[in-house]
Amino acid sequence: MAAEWWKKAVVYQIYPRSFKDSNGDGIGDLNGITEKLDYLKKLGVDVIWISPMYCSPMDDNGYDISDYYQVDPMFGTNDDMDRLLFEAGKRGMKVILDLVVNHCSDEHEWFVKAKQDPDCEEAGYFYFKRPEDGKEPNNWRSNFGGSVWTELPDGRWYFHTFSKKQPDLNWENPKLREKIYEMINWWLEKGVAGFRVDAITFIKKDLTFASRETEDGLRYPIENLTDYPGIGDLLAEMKAKCFDRYGCMTVAEAPGVSGDTFRRYAGENGYFSMIFDFTWENMEGETDKSSVEAVERWKQRILESQRFTSEAGWSGLFLENHDQSRCVNKYLEKDQIGFAGASAMAVMYFYLCGTPFIYQGQEIGMTNAEWNSIEEMDDVRAKGMYREALEQNGDPQKVLEYFGELGRDNARTPMQWCDGKNAGFTEGVPWLKVNENYREINVKAQEERGESLLAFYKKLTALRHQEPYASVFAEGTIRPVLKELPAVIAYEREWDGRIVTVAVNFKKTEQEIPVVGGKCLLSNEGELQQMGERYLLKAYQAVVFDGMIK
Ligand code: NOJ
Ligand code: CA
Repeated sequence: MAAEWWKKAVVYQIYPRSFKDSNGDGIGDLNGITEKLDYLKKLGVDVIWISPMYCSPMDDNGYDISDYYQVDPMFGTNDDMDRLLFEAGKRGMKVILDLVVNHCSDEHEWFVKAKQDPDCEEAGYFYFKRPEDGKEPNNWRSNFGGSVWTELPDGRWYFHTFSKKQPDLNWENPKLREKIYEMINWWLEKGVAGFRVDAITFIKKDLTFASRETEDGLRYPIENLTDYPGIGDLLAEMKAKCFDRYGCMTVAEAPGVSGDTFRRYAGENGYFSMIFDFTWENMEGETDKSSVEAVERWKQRILESQRFTSEAGWSGLFLENHDQSRCVNKYLEKDQIGFAGASAMAVMYFYLCGTPFIYQGQEIGMTNAEWNSIEEMDDVRAKGMYREALEQNGDPQKVLEYFGELGRDNARTPMQWCDGKNAGFTEGVPWLKVNENYREINVKAQEERGESLLAFYKKLTALRHQEPYASVFAEGTIRPVLKELPAVIAYEREWDGRIVTVAVNFKKTEQEIPVVGGKCLLSNEGELQQMGERYLLKAYQAVVFDGMIK
């Protein structure tokens, strides 16, 4: 059987607010995306994932949906969406949307009704408690800081995994589930090719809602209660009633799902086509990320994850998304940021077992911004944590530093299209500041330069699509090689008697590897130097061969 279509796809994530503004209001929009479809096509993108563009009060930039059927006026109209789908289709690209169904917005009509009338049908779509002592129903801590409970004026408390403007939906209620499935199928009928599925491991609750012990006496983090027993029934039902009927692509946000649970989620007949591999994204605690030791730790995590996931199912591979800092900052020390490191990382993840996702701006090497105050930031999470630090005698300065380095706003600064006003993102005032380095780092400059990261990403996608290599990457096994070489991440992919070898030197100095037979398909640092039976890899040199190590 041929590999499922999405195994050969390259996906590009768009955070619509920050991609391209078409009408000068300072906020990116759907027509802005349509304008840039040719750019994406040239980059070699097959599937575009658009972060939420539905009606929303934008407490969490659209991850708080008040109408699942309407595009928010800020982003355009449903007609604009139809046009975008049509224009993408014309160019052979598919569109997947963000499916946010763990919670909705407190301004969704369901919640508005539920607030007004405790006995209405919609009240059963949420979790309400009316504790006798009038206190917070339990000690669970929301993902964005503070309690998971918020009190209403009538003495009821409602549950929210994220901000208090994101009440959780009650998946125990079959009527609610039907409403969700109806909505999913409505979009699939319209022609979207699938979904990135938000925060899905939270939909099953511990229905005892009992407080939990914590060592520090502070609140109990809700993220410890993901993938709660019984969730499988809910996910299997959604798959059968929606996804299976359309052969669509689904990629779940399910951090923490590993081992045999991974199989249930992303194995053959899993609930989803794939889940994102979050196992190696976190570099917190590394004091020198570019050191051999840190790279070795990273490498172990990557290889271990690949060993398991390649055999058990399929992953979404990423270096960046809208919840992370920029990959050049995350994985490299400041003095190592540049083309070599960025392209080396790109090669390393692009040919692993899984579907590669590129986040907007990653292909031109966009970096974290400089944040001088909490006011400059926008992220509801950063603001929530800052507030919590102020209230609980914490250190707000530390929070600021933390989010400056690791915060989500870093990936949300406007896309840098050119060196003109506002980096070509908007004619108006951008909703979030433009990174000051846009004069050096922008699409136009890199399109003009033959040797740019953007040009290199085009080569990466081209190789991913070129047969027979496309089949090797989609269907082949993976085997680590040269494991003993410090800070070299190397692997072979094999399918149908053909072997492709990928080798990346993450060391700050050059390093020798044995000669690889066959032709060199890709190199980020020019010609390979050969000395007898050895190749000399420069610092951050990455190579791909049609052949195996001799
Ligand atoms: C995960 C999303 O990626 C993030 O941006 C959002 O804040 C939460 N889920 C809540 O929907
Ligand atoms: Ca706009």
